[in-house]
Amino acid sequence: MTEHEEKVMIGKMPACALPVAIVGSMVNGKANFNTLGCFGLLSAVKPMVYIMSGKSHYTNVGIRESGYFSVNIPSEELVAKTDYVGLVSGRDTDKSGVFSSLFGAADKAPMIKECPVNILCKVLKSEELSNSPVSDIVSEVFIGEVLEVYVSKDCLTDGRPDLRKINPLLLGGNPLMYWTLGSQAGLAYKDGKGLIQK
Ligand SMILES: Cc1cc2nc3c(=O)[nH]c(=O)nc-3n(C[C@H](O)[C@H](O)[C@H](O)COP(=O)(O)O)c2cc1C
Repeated sequence: MTEHEEKVMIGKMPACALPVAIVGSMVNGKANFNTLGCFGLLSAVKPMVYIMSGKSHYTNVGIRESGYFSVNIPSEELVAKTDYVGLVSGRDTDKSGVFSSLFGAADKAPMIKECPVNILCKVLKSEELSNSPVSDIVSEVFIGEVLEVYVSKDCLTDGRPDLRKINPLLLGGNPLMYWTLGSQAGLAYKDGKGLIQK
């Protein structure tokens, strides 16, 4: 093992903040929702996202059947409901009434009215991943093409999404905790310009 004077090797779990997402799909004619920390943007040019959800999760049944899913970004006030839909499975408990459902142009996946941001996706590709060599837990990665993005009108400033108003949740820490954003730290693609050698 490499020793570094100012670093401690803590294992393999990346110590970083993850965006919290609630994924929605229609299962047997009912909306179902599932909380995920494993969600991210793959491309901003042709917007695509990935989600990784346990293959046995009820939400996955609907994604596999319909080929569509929604990703919903909860705000701080939704922390308890966000945690709840990540604790119980739609297989045992009807979660369709936890949130109000909205549907976009493709009437295939429920989006959550109460969440300030909703992303409607069409599955482009899916892949099974074995999470661990010592367990038989299998996850599915779904890559979704973003079809539509909705933002609550009260979360816009000058017509643009305003992160302070959206007030998204982040996941991190040990034990795992929900966090909110701090303040703006800089401007992307601008603050580094002064360091470019002429
Ligand atoms: C904070 C939090 C984050 C979670 N992240 C994931 C994740 O990234 N992938 C996953 O498969 N399950 C994750 N889960 C667990 C699922 O949300 C949970 O198993 C849920 O009950 C599945 O619901 P379903 O069977 O109705 O789809 C997370 C749960 C919580 C509370």
